[in-house]
Amino acid sequence: MKNPLIIANWKMKLAPQEAIDLAKKVKKASTKYKGAEVVLCPSFTELAEVGKIIDATGLKLGAQDCFWEEQGAFTGEISPKILQEYGVETVIIGHSERRTSLLETSQMIHKKARLVLSLGMRPVVCVGESFDERQEGLKDSIIIRQVHDALNGIWLNKMDSLVVAYEPIWVIGSGQDCDPEEIEHTHQVIRQALYDLFTEQVVDEQVKIIYGGSVDPENVSNYLSHATVHGVLIGTASWDATTFSAVVAGAIKP
Ligand code: 13P
Repeated sequence: MKNPLIIANWKMKLAPQEAIDLAKKVKKASTKYKGAEVVLCPSFTELAEVGKIIDATGLKLGAQDCFWEEQGAFTGEISPKILQEYGVETVIIGHSERRTSLLETSQMIHKKARLVLSLGMRPVVCVGESFDERQEGLKDSIIIRQVHDALNGIWLNKMDSLVVAYEPIWVIGSGQDCDPEEIEHTHQVIRQALYDLFTEQVVDEQVKIIYGGSVDPENVSNYLSHATVHGVLIGTASWDATTFSAVVAGAIKP
């Protein structure tokens, strides 16, 4: 894949100083990241500091979530407008960990995606099936429904960009590889679902479909060798600078 998108989801894994140290190390290594678009998504509390560290590098700042209103009496929530003021350009939305642990609904995910886009930022809408859903043969229908529910009725303007991340829940954090043929198939399913909502030209030019789930330095090039995989969303392998740099190296290798 030419110029793959690589998003590091630091989840709630790092203490403040650990996040800062990691950002500094990634910044140092980033001179070798040419040929990839790399986005770091720390916790909200470290956004400002990490943003300063990576300022004026090729690295970009992302967030792990946001609220669906710009402003108001929503105790504990974070407005995407505030994120934008911190330099965030990319916002992960509807991660399966939030769908499961926080009972985030497709309606919430839809509202978040709509607001993020309206502010000129890029949502990364996560979709994926559970192990049981896969065993029951429901994978494709679940994924199509998630894509439709999140994006139906949303209009992409010329300058907008959107990412859909396919993350099979049963692979996340498992250390297991996913069959690249299966990823390829699912990305085609996602693309078809997107064609129901947007014109072919919009999908081809403004939407990226990326894969997440135990991506590591060994499997990344295999995944990205498929034309339908435009990038990767990385958890575990992004929490250590050496491992993360090895993933980026694997992603950009010719
Ligand atoms: P792992 O890379 O740890 O499987 O996490 C994937 C993920 O959930 C990224 O959002």
